[in-house]
This record gives sequence, structure tokens and C-alpha cells, in this order.
Amino acid sequence: MSVTPAAVLEALSTIVDPVQGRDIVRLGMVKGLKVHGKKVALTVMVKDPTTDFAQTVAEQCRAAIKAHLGPNVVVYADTDSEMISLGAPVVENNRPQNVNVSALNIVAVASGKGGVGKSTVAANLAVSLAKLGYEVGLVDTDIYGPSVPTMFGAMNEKPRVNSDRKIIPLERHGVKLLSMGFMVDPDQAVIWRGPMVSSAVRQFLGDADWGNLEYLILDLPPGTGDIQLTIVQTVSLTGAIIVSTPQNVALADARKGVAMFQQVNVPVVGIVENMAFFAPPDLPDRKYYLFGQGGAKRLAEELAVPFLGEVPLEQAVRETGDDGTPIVVQHPDSASAQAFLEIAKDAVRQLAIRNAELPPTQPVEILYR
Ligand SMILES: Nc1ncnc2c1ncn2[C@@H]1O[C@H](COP(=O)(O)OP(=O)(O)OP(=O)(O)O)[C@@H](O)[C@H]1O
Ligand SMILES: [Mg+2]
Repeated sequence: MSVTPAAVLEALSTIVDPVQGRDIVRLGMVKGLKVHGKKVALTVMVKDPTTDFAQTVAEQCRAAIKAHLGPNVVVYADTDSEMISLGAPVVENNRPQNVNVSALNIVAVASGKGGVGKSTVAANLAVSLAKLGYEVGLVDTDIYGPSVPTMFGAMNEKPRVNSDRKIIPLERHGVKLLSMGFMVDPDQAVIWRGPMVSSAVRQFLGDADWGNLEYLILDLPPGTGDIQLTIVQTVSLTGAIIVSTPQNVALADARKGVAMFQQVNVPVVGIVENMAFFAPPDLPDRKYYLFGQGGAKRLAEELAVPFLGEVPLEQAVRETGDDGTPIVVQHPDSASAQAFLEIAKDAVRQLAIRNAELPPTQPVEILYR
């Protein structure tokens, strides 16, 4: 078996922190991962260096990696007890204050182009992650065209506030949900400008009672303008997922989306190709590539970002989106639901690699006029 970051993390995911009851990869404890040939270096961040677990975890890492990848692998493993900072707040005047949300992974789902299926992917990704057993939140940041209320059958819902005056997210299919659509009438919001949207999103993220999330998915509005950038600045994003159809116009915009995130140092953890092909229900083996074939996969290869998978064009995706129960719940055996589940698993892997290899994203200052 070749020694790759993914293989190393798979080996390490067999090691469970006895206090937290979860494996060290899932807990984001593996840092500074480097793989060179057959040499692996890593640091495990422990909360309390005096525990038995903290004192043996480096040895456990060496043993697990050698057991999975062969005795010839050279492992440099140590521990550190520095606190892992999540979204360190920026405290400076004249500058939006970064919101501190307790979520191990904050992931934006974006695209340059509208209507390619961001909201559909974000919703089904969130529900798939919940089905895989993770603690998940989903925020619809699209103030002008919110989709989450429709997609989760929560059109007339108004979230309540708890005794600490924090907004309590709704819960559907194991996912904690908030949508700008719950707070602001989209007809009123059309006149809002970037800074207003940004401050609303910030309040909304920071003033909600999310609990301890493992994944917080942000469904972004279409485009790569001011609004997307300010939202991206509101929290320290772990990574971004770009959705595209195989069509050239969508791919050109997806490329802009990737460039936008790279400019603000947010790693793109994957590209999803949506509406990849149509397979008639009565002839499921026949695939029609209505928008072209494999374009998003090629784009991912060209830009050296992971390709997370393709979702077919299926009538049931649209229908389940409209009637308020995502396809991964309503038709879990459908081709699209299966695709969403695999995409979720791959997103988990890619985010784990990102967290182990790179430090948390630092907010980049963007100056407006
Ligand atoms: N794989 C698919 N098969 C069939 N219909 C789909 C698929 N993906 C998305 N759709 C449908 O396409 C439409 C647009 O999808 P969606 O709202 O998710 O796109 P979006 O990128 O979020 O749009 P916007 O840019 O307006 O936010 C919706 O009606 C949705 O149900
Ligand atoms: Mg949308």
C-alpha cells in the first residue's frame, strides 16, 4: 500500500481518545502531517499532556501506521498541548470582527454560476454527513434567494430564541438549520447591499446556539462578488466545495470560484460535478451527457484540487428539493442519493487531510472603497 496522507489518516483513525470517545482524526487532533516517500511526520494535539493517553498516543500512531502501511515506514510522531484555536477572533476597529463558531469544519458550498445545484448539493451533503453519524449544521446565506426553507419543508418556520438570547436552529433529518429566509423577507432584502448582508450573516452565525458541530455547511449565493467575499470573511472557513455542471460556461465560473477562495487562502477541498449525465429510469445503463462529459473532473485535475464525484440529473432530485425532503432521505437507493453519500465520505477524507496538513485558515483583510 502506498504511503499517502489519506492512507496515514485511515491508519490513525483507529486510535480513539478515551475521554472524548472518538478517533483522533475525527477530533482534528492530528496536525503538521507530512509524507515524504516512506517517511511520515505528525503531531497529535492533546488537551492534557499528563494523561496516560497523551503519553502513549505517539507510540500508538507509530504502531497503527506500521500495521497499516508496512514495517518499513519511518514515523516521526510527537505530541503537543497547544490549544487548537478555531476561528481566532479578529479584534480591530474598522474591520469586521471574525465570528467564532464552535465547529471543527466550516465549509462553504459555492460556484461562480447560478442554478448549478449549490443548494441541492449543500442540503444533501449536510444530510448525508448526519446519516454518517456526524454533528452537522447547515446555513443558507442566500438572502436574496434562500432555498433551505423550501428544501427542508420549513417555509413558515421562525426559529425561537433560548434564555441566553441565542437563536435555536431548527432541526431536520439530523441537521441543524438556519436560513436567511427565516429572518428576512426576500422581497425586502433585494435592496440590501454587501455590508448589510455580511453583518446579518455574522449575527446569525455567531448568535446561534449550534452546540459543538463537526461540520457547518454554508450554502452561498451564486457569484464571486462582494457578498461572497464578505461571507467568506465572516468565519474562518476550513475549506470550500465548488459545484459545477459540465458545461463550459459553468466551468469558467467554477474556475473563478476556485480563484476567489485561493485569493483569500481558503483551501478548495473539492469540486462536485452536478447534472453530470441523464440516465432514463427505464434504461438506467444508458447515459446521456446533456451538458458535456467530464468537464468538472478535468477542471479539478487541471487546478490540482480533489474531484469529489458526479451527481446525475434526476427528476427525483428536483422533486424532492421542491417538496421538502432531500433525496438522500426520500430515495436513499437512487443513483443521486448514492452519489451524494460517496461525495460526503470523500469530503470527510479531504477535510481531514486539509486539517492535518495545514494550519487553520487566517482571515485575510479585504479593503472596500
Ligand atoms: N442533479 C440534479 N437533478 C435534477 N435537478 C437538479 C439537480 N441538481 C439541482 N437540480 C434542480 O435545479 C434547480 C437549481 O438547483 P439549486 O437551487 O440547488 O441551484 P443553486 O446553484 O443553489 O441555485 P442559485 O444559484 O439560485 O442559488 C433546482 O430546481 C434543483 O432542484
Ligand atoms: Mg442556491
